[in-house]
Amino acid sequence: MTASRKPFLRALAGETLTPPPFWLMRQAGRYLPEYRATRTQAGSFLDLCYNPELAVEVTLQPLRRYGFDAAILFSDILVIPDALGQRVAFKEGEGPVLPPIRSARDLEGLDISGLHQHLAPVYATVAGLSKAIPASTALIGFSGAPWTVATYMIEGGGSKDFSHAKRLMWSEPETFARLMELLVEATGQYLIRQIDNGAEAIQIFDTWAGALPETEFRRWVIGPARALAERIHAERPGVPVIGFPRGAGILYEAYVAETGIDAVGLDTAVPLDWAADKLQTRCTVQGNLDPILLVAGGEALDAGIDRILKALGKGPFVFNLGHGIVPPTPPENVARLAERVKTWRG
Ligand code: CP3
Repeated sequence: MTASRKPFLRALAGETLTPPPFWLMRQAGRYLPEYRATRTQAGSFLDLCYNPELAVEVTLQPLRRYGFDAAILFSDILVIPDALGQRVAFKEGEGPVLPPIRSARDLEGLDISGLHQHLAPVYATVAGLSKAIPASTALIGFSGAPWTVATYMIEGGGSKDFSHAKRLMWSEPETFARLMELLVEATGQYLIRQIDNGAEAIQIFDTWAGALPETEFRRWVIGPARALAERIHAERPGVPVIGFPRGAGILYEAYVAETGIDAVGLDTAVPLDWAADKLQTRCTVQGNLDPILLVAGGEALDAGIDRILKALGKGPFVFNLGHGIVPPTPPENVARLAERVKTWRG
């Protein structure tokens, strides 16, 4: 394989770059007025995800403003349950709502056979982006991790304590295991198709990884991440995989050691010197500015950025947030961050 010239892919391959490449989780979204305008034009949020022309447009919007090193496909982790036949609705101001899966019988209603037909518009967005992004920008495809997607499927939406998901996991382990197997298979196929349409790297979002005790974390966070990374590495060699096991705490170490991922996304709570010592010695690290610092702005923002650059900039590193941009973020604070990262000289 020839070495890629795109800075983001070089960093994922283990190179140390000064300044490091950067992008931001949820870089396309409601904090941008041009996103809100396109979103209104599209209708619902899912209509936007399934409209390749408009999804390409909203992916490009933050690149035009800030010159990020990577574009992330505009879609959502919940298109997988939607494509399996568990229809998802996004209620204004409420987040996602799904008819919950709580039994073996509910599970029988899911069907993988229509997956790619349902997701064809997402693949068209990836293909469109692959042609539309600047030559030095890399294209990231993504999915939710099976555990995080399963929480939405079982709870029927967002949750504070995941009591339904955990109850199914412990009281009906065979049903839960079947759901997880289905998600590992569907997600694997979905990511391979994204790669075949032009995705150059993959990020797997396990937003609720930190909700599981150690034993279950090893089985349902590390297990599926390892299966997905192994499948991508075997079937599409050379495409790097970034894992984001948010809230994993010290289990970040086992996650990195045992999944075989190429890079790991750090949440805001991960101590920087610990990450440099225990994680960056094994793979590229990405993160982890608190997204609320982008709301606060000013000197607190500058200091937060500098601390991260100083601690992690001496090894393989991609600058990012520790979680997604929030809607009240002033766009000028993102510009301030972009300028500061791009002009860092170590
Ligand atoms: O710019 C990007 O990062 C790419 C697009 C992207 C979105 N969602 C768009 C989106 C990505 C990568 C995601 C991932 C996602 N979706 C996750 C994992 C990452 C994380 O943030 O923890 C999760 C848990 C979801 C599920 C989801 N999508 C929820 C719970 C919500 C409602 C909460 C909210 O922020 O409104 C969404 C909606 C969503 N996904 C929006 C966007 C831009 C806002 C929808 C709108 O425009 O009304």
